[in-house]
Amino acid sequence: MFDENGRIVGSNEQLEDLQTENTIRPRWFKDYIGQDKVKEKLGIFIKSSLARNEPLDHVLLQGPPGLGKTTLAAIIANELGVNLRVTSGPAIERPSDLASILTNLSHGDVLFIDEIHRINRSVEEILYSAMEDFALDIIVGKGPNAQSIRIDLEKFTLVGATTRSGMLSAPLRDRFGVLLSLNLYNNKDLSTIVKRSANILDIEIDDEGAYEIARRSRGTPRIANRLLKRVRDFAIVKADSRIDLETSKKGLELLEIDPMGLDNMDKKIIMTMYENFNGGPVGVDTIAASTGVENVTIEDVYEPYLLQIGFISRTPRGRILTKKVYDYYGLKMEDDK
Ligand SMILES: Nc1ncnc2c1ncn2[C@@H]1O[C@H](COP(=O)(O)OP(=O)(O)OP(=O)(O)O)[C@@H](O)[C@H]1O
Ligand SMILES: [Mg+2]
Repeated sequence: MFDENGRIVGSNEQLEDLQTENTIRPRWFKDYIGQDKVKEKLGIFIKSSLARNEPLDHVLLQGPPGLGKTTLAAIIANELGVNLRVTSGPAIERPSDLASILTNLSHGDVLFIDEIHRINRSVEEILYSAMEDFALDIIVGKGPNAQSIRIDLEKFTLVGATTRSGMLSAPLRDRFGVLLSLNLYNNKDLSTIVKRSANILDIEIDDEGAYEIARRSRGTPRIANRLLKRVRDFAIVKADSRIDLETSKKGLELLEIDPMGLDNMDKKIIMTMYENFNGGPVGVDTIAASTGVENVTIEDVYEPYLLQIGFISRTPRGRILTKKVYDYYGLKMEDDK
């Protein structure tokens, strides 16, 4: 199986991202670039909650990896002026793990559960009453002596994040009052993100240099920040430490990232669709089987970007390649093959 980790344009978090994470991660709305609709809605809900002196409603954030869900959860807590407790679906193994987290929350605190779609069933059931009634129903003892006791909790805000909203059970999804989807970023916003990060990391960069990194970052801030650091290395060694258009281009070429931010894996998916399936329509499972990439990875990681740039499109019968991608790679349409 192909491993997404280590891929320079991979959107999943990698070890090297973590080294600068704390310095460049925005902590307030004013530093969080783009996603204007999400910011506007959340801003209103937060102000209202502060005015009412009531905890914010539970929030579900959905969207592909690296778009800023974890960042947003931390911003929500900061803007509300409350504590943030971070955990993830797979980390909460037993109901008692969740119970101990919940009983330690103070009034209004934000509990962030990353990858909430991966939470196990027995834990999920405890979460229902916690979210709805701010109470835990726990069974103590075994057999005929078993007793159900109810523990009241402080009112808290659950912020859940998921890359796969379709995998969330309906009862869980229904308990979120606020559902927000993050979209891939446009190049202008990504440029601003690159310049902001460069400023924090003390890297000299001009507008064109930043834009060149932005357009190869697959709509994803995490990738933009990573490419910035690699291009900086190139600039230090080859170009007086300054990043302009030419340095950006050369550095990115060296990393084998093409002008649209595509790498060999994207190309493999596209070529498989072209060579084996005449450009589609073909189902994701079939593409997965022919490329050796897991179908979830295709849907979460590769496809959103290829759809955004209009290289593939979705039809009821499966995915198809568009004229744009034929032009880009100089492929022949079926008729004149
Ligand atoms: N709107 C933004 N403005 C500036 N920087 C951002 C923005 N969104 C994300 N970033 C940066 O991108 C990186 C990735 O963001 P984050 O970790 O929040 O993504 P995520 O959606 O939680 O990803 P995952 O699904 O993998 O957990 C962070 O380092 C953050 O600094
Ligand atoms: Mg995250």
